[in-house]
Formats: sequence, C-alpha cells, structure tokens
Amino acid sequence: MLTQDELKRNVAMAAAEYALTCLQPESVLGVGTGSTVDFFIDAIAEHRHRFRAAVSSSERSTRRMRDLGIEVLDLNEVEEMPIYVDGADEIDHQLNMIKGGGGALTREKIVASVARRYICIVDESKVVERLGAFPLPVEVIPMARNVVSRRLRALGGQPVLREGFITDNGGEILDVAGLDIPAPAVLESHINDIPGVVGCGLFAISGADLALVSSQSGVRRMQ
Ligand code: 5RP
Repeated sequence: MLTQDELKRNVAMAAAEYALTCLQPESVLGVGTGSTVDFFIDAIAEHRHRFRAAVSSSERSTRRMRDLGIEVLDLNEVEEMPIYVDGADEIDHQLNMIKGGGGALTREKIVASVARRYICIVDESKVVERLGAFPLPVEVIPMARNVVSRRLRALGGQPVLREGFITDNGGEILDVAGLDIPAPAVLESHINDIPGVVGCGLFAISGADLALVSSQSGVRRMQ
C-alpha cells in the first residue's frame, strides 16, 4: 500500500516526464506551490538544463528551486509559458479546482494565466464529484476581513480567519466552509467581485487543461 507521500511523488515524477515533452531549451516553466509540487521541483531539477528557467507562484517554491539550481524569473520578464504545473486541494471531473491550502492561490492564478496549459497534479484523494468539502480559501486585504466575511456568510459560507498566516502579498486568508458549489465559475465570479477580495481559491473560470491523478494502480490522465 503506497502512502500519500509516495502517491504524490509518483504523480510528480509523471508530471516531470510530461513537462519535458512540452519544454524547449528556451522555454519558461510555470511552477505552483505545495507538497506535491515540492516533489515535482525535485524531479525536474536534474533536467534544469533542458529549459531556460521557471516562474514561481510563491516564495516557498522560489527558495526550493533556487537551492536546486533552477533559475527563477520575475513574471514581469516573461510573456509566455507552455505549461504551468500545480497541485490542488480538490478537483472535479470537469477539472474545476479548489486551491489555496498553502495560501498561494493569488500568485498561482496569476502565473497560471500566462501559461498555455495548466497541468494539475494530485493523488486520488483530491478527486471529488462536487467541490466544497474542502473549505474555500479566499485572500483578503486585512482591513476588509470583516466586511468580506459578512458577504461570504450571505452566500451561505462560514468564513474562518487563518490565524497567524500572512500571504506572500501581505494578505490574510479566510477559509470558508459550508459553501454549496453547484456552479463553480459563477461562485468564483461572485466572490471575485466582493471589494476587498484579492483572490479566490476557486479555479473554474479557467480550470485545469489536464490532470494527472496518482492512485495505488498508477498515474492516470483526466482531461
Ligand atoms: C497551495 C495550493 C496547493 O496546490 C494545494 O494546497 C495542494 O497542496 P499539496 O500538494 O500540499 O496537497 O493550492 O496554495
């Protein structure tokens, strides 16, 4: 029986193999954040001479990549990326996702928006029929914490401030439990429109293009 870490490592290795088929020596790779992505960074590092550099979605991933000799560029220097590789907290069969368990959702969405294809890497436990069991992370400007919380309650959620956590952008995270999410892109758009919201952990207006899913029987594709 493989542990969850072994499942994460397996999908990360499969993603590294896949990434190398998309990358040219001049390519820039988009890299997400989290424990699954940490395994991906470790796997891709030995092939760092086969692509130009990476753009990172967090200080955490930047540090890990630089420590392993991968050049990390500022997104402002980059106009296109063939792929962005990142994990998720939940993904449904339409490839809508909840992200932000690690608090990097806003930068993740920004970097992903520049890439031609979003490759999501998860173990089987993240695949769901309907999003919402995982509390939805929403990044807010600190002064707007309470007003945004009231608006999220009006949408049926129960927001809880992630205590002692500040994002790489200086924001705070509200983890919102209890949301009913029949139409993820509609809810994403509603939450994005609340003044004071920096970013919402729903990735549905633009979801993944391909998911690699690791289970006891191997790594399969969902697309
Ligand atoms: C970070 C994220 C991560 O992709 C998500 O939390 C999954 O993390 P892990 O691979 O550690 O399970 O969205 O903001």
